[in-house]
Order: sequence, then structure tokens, then C-alpha cells
Amino acid sequence: MKSVIVFTVLTIWANVDSTPCLSSPSQWCDSLDSAIECGVLKQCLEANATRPKALAQSVQVELYFESLCPGCRQFLTTVLLPTWVLLQDIMSVTLVPFGNAQESGKEKPYTFVCQHGEEECLGNMIETCIMNTTGSQALQIIYCMEASTNVVKAGPMCVELYSPQTKWDSIMACVKGAQGNELMHQNAVKTGSLKPAHEYVPWVVIDGVHTDELQDKAMASLFTLVCSMYKGPKPEACGAVPKKRHRSYCHNE
Ligand SMILES: *[C@@H]1O[C@H](CO)[C@@H](O)[C@H](O)[C@H]1NC(C)=O
Ligand SMILES: *[C@@H]1O[C@H](CO)[C@@H](O)[C@H](O)[C@H]1NC(C)=O
Repeated sequence: MKSVIVFTVLTIWANVDSTPCLSSPSQWCDSLDSAIECGVLKQCLEANATRPKALAQSVQVELYFESLCPGCRQFLTTVLLPTWVLLQDIMSVTLVPFGNAQESGKEKPYTFVCQHGEEECLGNMIETCIMNTTGSQALQIIYCMEASTNVVKAGPMCVELYSPQTKWDSIMACVKGAQGNELMHQNAVKTGSLKPAHEYVPWVVIDGVHTDELQDKAMASLFTLVCSMYKGPKPEACGAVPKKRHRSYCHNE
């Protein structure tokens, strides 16, 4: 009984008292006033000065592609995904499956003709609906499809593998319905408004910009390009050696 009373009194006291030094020490540096009041100004200033800078904006990588183009499949599976696996903290990926397809019709439903035939239109649509339905799992599902012998047939298996909670039927409802049609129209508009206009696929846009040089660098090593373009402190994956450590030593933690 006694301990309950003491506990209650302490709680009320801590809540009522506005002295910041009674709160968690992690908050003492929150303001100049509290740092002074708690007598830790010097420590707070030092801690603030050595704290790593806030993370910079991640490098935006957009890929304009079409589901059955061999070069697109190769880039997506052997370059883009492995790079993203290592650098996902500093890069974001946007996929726009449309490529060299054509849209016709000024009103819904739009119709699409694809470079590699109807199968490719279906692949583009399935991937678009996967992005709309599975969110953050989409990149891995699309990788799984593009890495498979038959892109379209692999769809249900890849969804099951990476997003077991998603019903394949819900993806096909999108594919066959007005929503898929509208989403593919948005891909057409996005692809059609590229500046400069795309001349081939895979077409890469980095931080909103496409140049021959960026494209060549992305093809040669997207990994090196993303590391070099990231403005924040380089992550270890980029080859940054942690401070005061020598790689060949075994440190006593
Ligand atoms: C430490 O940095 C934080 C965030 O930048 C700032 O709000 C705070 O006032 C700084 N504290 C001191 C004591 O300078
Ligand atoms: C799915 O598409 C609709 C438009 O048809 C959009 O409003 C919604 O935000 C999309 N959802 C995701 C997760 O992209």
C-alpha cells in the first residue's frame, strides 16, 4: 500500500513540475533553455555538432519500360533490383510500364497497342495493377515476373510469394476493369510527357532528368551513379568506411 502511494505522488509531481531536467535525459538537449537549466549546455552543443546531418532526399530513379522487352528485363533484374536491395535507404524507384506502346481513344475505355503484342499489354497492365494493389511489395513481385521465363504466367506465383495477403482475383479485377484502364492511361500520359521524349526503352530518369550521360552511367553502373548522386552522408554500402575503424582489424566491441 505504501509503495503505491509513493509511486502516485511521484507521478503527479513529475507531471506537474515543468522542470525539463526531470524528464528523460534524451530531451535535455531539445532546447537551449533546457540545456542551460540542466547544466549540460557544453555536452549538448558537442553532441549536436557531431550528430550526422539529417538524411538527404533519396535519389529518385524512374524506369520507363515495357514488360516483354529483353533489354528492359535484363536491366530491371540484373541492375535495378540488386542496386535497390543494397541502396534502398538512399534511393526510391518508380516503374512506369508502358514504353513504346500506343494509346488510342480520347475517352474511356482507352485502347492500347504494344510493341511485343497483346501479351505485353497484359504484362504491363498486370504490373500496373500490382503496383496499385500491393504497394511496397510491388518492386519485388515485378522483379520476380520479369526474371521468370514467362512474365505473365509467373504473375500469380510471384504475388503469392511476396504478398501472400493479396488475392490474385483482386489484381485481375483491376486488370480487366475501369481502374486498370485509367491507371494505364496515366502511364501513357506520363510516358508521353517525358522531356526529352523517350527514344527507346529501358529509359532511365534520375532525379527528374534524362541525359545520354545519365542513361549511360545508369546502364554501366546504377549503383555507382546513385552513390555519387546522393547528397547525404554516404552509407556503408557505397564504400564509406566507418570512422576510426580499420577494415582488417578485429575490433573489441
Ligand atoms: C540541438 O539540435 C536540435 C535540432 O537541430 C535543436 O532543436 C536544439 O536546440 C539544439 N540544442 C542545442 C543545445 O543547441
Ligand atoms: C490506385 O489507383 C487509384 C486511382 O485509380 C488511386 O487513387 C490510388 O491512390 C492508387 N493506390 C496506390 C496504392 O497507388
